[in-house]
Amino acid sequence: TEIFRADYLQPANWVKSVSMSFDIYDGKTIVKSNLVVVANEQSKHDSRDLVLDGDGSSVVLKGVEIEGRELKEGIDYTLTPSQLIIHSTSFPNPQSFTLSTTVETVPEDNTQLSGFYKSGPMYCTQCEAEGFRRITYYPDRPDNMATFTEVKITADEEKYPILLSNGNLVSSEKKEGGRHEAVWEDPFPKPSYLFAVVVGDLGSIQDSYVTTSGRKVKLEIFSEKENVGKLDYAMESLKNSMKWDEDKFGLEYDLDIYNVVAVNDFNMGAMENKGLNVFNTAYVLADQKTATDGDFERVEGVIGHEYFHNWTGNRVTCRDWFQLTLKEGLTVFRDQSFSGDMGSNDVTRIENVKGLRGRQFAEDAGPMSHPIRPESYVAIDNFYTATVYSKGAEVIRMYDTILGKAGFRKGMDLYFERHDGSAATCDDFRSAMADANNADLDQFSRWYTQKGTPTVKYSSSLDADTFTLNLSQHTATAPENQPFHIPVEFGVIDSETGEQLVESHVLHFKEKTQSFTFKLSSTPKGSAVPSVMRGFSAPVKLVSEASPATQKSDLLTLAAYDTDGFNRWEAGQKLYTDAIFAELHGDELNLDGVYQAFEQTLTSSKISDDSIRAYGLMLPSESGLAEEMETIDPIGLHQARTAIKKKLARKFETGIAELYARLTQEMAGAEFEVNAKAIGKRRLRNTALDYVCANKDSDEEIVASARTAHKHYFDANCMTDQVAAMSILSNVHGVTEAEALRDEVLEKFYNAAEGDALVLNKWFTIQATSSKPDVLADVVKLTTHPEFTMSNPNRCRSLVGAFTANSAAFHAEDGSGYKFIGEKITVLDAMNPQIASRMVGCLIGFRRYDEGRAEKMKAELNKIRDIDGLSPDTKEIVDKALS
Ligand code: ARG
Ligand code: ZN
Repeated sequence: TEIFRADYLQPANWVKSVSMSFDIYDGKTIVKSNLVVVANEQSKHDSRDLVLDGDGSSVVLKGVEIEGRELKEGIDYTLTPSQLIIHSTSFPNPQSFTLSTTVETVPEDNTQLSGFYKSGPMYCTQCEAEGFRRITYYPDRPDNMATFTEVKITADEEKYPILLSNGNLVSSEKKEGGRHEAVWEDPFPKPSYLFAVVVGDLGSIQDSYVTTSGRKVKLEIFSEKENVGKLDYAMESLKNSMKWDEDKFGLEYDLDIYNVVAVNDFNMGAMENKGLNVFNTAYVLADQKTATDGDFERVEGVIGHEYFHNWTGNRVTCRDWFQLTLKEGLTVFRDQSFSGDMGSNDVTRIENVKGLRGRQFAEDAGPMSHPIRPESYVAIDNFYTATVYSKGAEVIRMYDTILGKAGFRKGMDLYFERHDGSAATCDDFRSAMADANNADLDQFSRWYTQKGTPTVKYSSSLDADTFTLNLSQHTATAPENQPFHIPVEFGVIDSETGEQLVESHVLHFKEKTQSFTFKLSSTPKGSAVPSVMRGFSAPVKLVSEASPATQKSDLLTLAAYDTDGFNRWEAGQKLYTDAIFAELHGDELNLDGVYQAFEQTLTSSKISDDSIRAYGLMLPSESGLAEEMETIDPIGLHQARTAIKKKLARKFETGIAELYARLTQEMAGAEFEVNAKAIGKRRLRNTALDYVCANKDSDEEIVASARTAHKHYFDANCMTDQVAAMSILSNVHGVTEAEALRDEVLEKFYNAAEGDALVLNKWFTIQATSSKPDVLADVVKLTTHPEFTMSNPNRCRSLVGAFTANSAAFHAEDGSGYKFIGEKITVLDAMNPQIASRMVGCLIGFRRYDEGRAEKMKAELNKIRDIDGLSPDTKEIVDKALS
């Protein structure tokens, strides 16, 4: 059933405090809960009945009593497949009473990985959003904040020496029959989605942190024993996060212990349970041998993210799930700012915007388009989206841009002053920001109610020393949208001298069309070039209305001189984009500008950050480019991008080879480090390698490039370099000698992995994303590999998910890619609906493709819709797509 934001009502009763016990046996766990219930005088419900959520497919009710009196079904309560309703007639005292339930659950059979489940040898929980109802009967809604005064866990001591829950350990003791017991209490009231239990035979590393006000916090990160050596980077990141939040926001940690556990089977990235974060291993384990620089960056970002949730999410939580972006958008903004401060802000910004364009723009252009605060949902798990997270973070970033750093901080302080310890709304947040700054943010609220990616068009003119910038806004996919309040960070550059003629500042663009005039600080020697939307100051598409010739010369000016790092990079990307589309459309190719920008990026001594140089040399991704096409031509796009890349590789053959050789020499024998500088070097060298290996017009060149990659692989001292080389080799096909080198590396990599799950995931992914024409056959074969399983989400994504991202192959004209995915989704849906409904996302954008493809994608969607017992999760997405 569809749930609407407008229908929010407080419940008739609150659960104020909880004590629970978990009695764990092989194949059966008994959960007892005692709920202290109090009437909610403010509720507008007619009925005073106590409504408890419970998923009957996961919990079996064994008994209900109120203060010693056993309740009777049909008289005292009603049980449905999703609820336990305690009739108010059975309340001994309607103001307050204690209700006790006993249920049984079988975590060993829980393949959905929601609720209480088993991951390999350990037990763990995932309760957000609605997993707690798969553990016990409870008001499983985020506005019910209760104190978990006692969580008692009992299990076999030898098999499960570690027993964890939220908060502080109260006691632990031995029990009869080789069992033992631990009792936990969490002093902070919390909603059920933040509850966690972990039970297993785990290893750990420990550290400590002293907060500014002197609280000594014991930090511990747990994993399966063989992975304990890969936890150090996460621990460093955790301590950095704690310090950063104190420095930037004055926010300190509030318990004496902070635990993190790495689990293999996990639907999402990680979970911010109070005092007991649970992480997907992919976002916590990292070392030189097994993790790429990207993995290290993600570990830092996600550790930060979950830590920052302690204030933005836990201390202040969400009133209802429509408010999800209140905690997620804000916390993503915080983790992005943290990552920028730890490394380079420009580099992080470029990476974040690439991500937004590749995923969120696509989502907003398809049937799942929704405002960052949705109006309705069927399965809330379907709304943990790029829009709620990444666009939500952009919306928070706009407050910061509009109010300034100090103003934003004032707003945050007021937000915590008003809402600490409670469940809040997005409007509460906006009011705090507005009130703390005496700012008018009424129009800004449209970012919460209107969907789609706005397009901002601009033109400019110069009259003596008066510069005029004309802006217009519209949303192509949602023409009914009213104008947004768009912060436009803006400056003007002299094309001749590179001087800034108008200093960077923020314009408040609020009308459908609006003009701004400026006095230039001096008469331009060349032309006055506008630099618009610096730092990507709003999540929009920016389009210049100048003539193609002016556009090109403006982009060259910005690429060379813009004082804003993001827009310098962006100018190059736009030149590349234009060239790729000219190639795709068979237009006359004039690559002078592209060559000039590329050469400048390759050689300029002004670029001091190797990551910036590397990102400047990389072409825009196929997924980002696709968003600029009315009808997506995945194969044409892949070919056009490849063609431009080859032309650049050929034109700058010498310069790139020199760069590669120089970096190879510089880095030889250097100690492995993970920091912005070292990562930048590897990134730049691997980008150079990619161009070096793009020269393959003859069999000789193909073999030579395979040899270069092969050598790069065997000389590598870290996973980053191995993956770079193997990715290039994985594309090799048709030339026997080169294929032998490819196969040697793939085999070597597999053997060296020695079963390490995260390393094997890379082995699957690299093969699934190959540009080989027969890649689907490889993928199908890999699904029968003994290490492949659909039941582990990471492994499933590493092969099946990765293949769907291999756009040219997935969108093969004969529909073979669609058929393959259709079959996999059928299997997945019965096992794990959350993962299945994510996977089905690759089919729902069919309206963006030509008729032949669209029909075939639709046919698969129709087949999925007809599956017997299709999950509500997958059904919601498929229905949206087909309607
Ligand atoms: N709150 C978690 C995170 O940071 C995400 C958990 C979502 N889980 C889910 N099954 N929907 O960011
Ligand atoms: Zn989050």
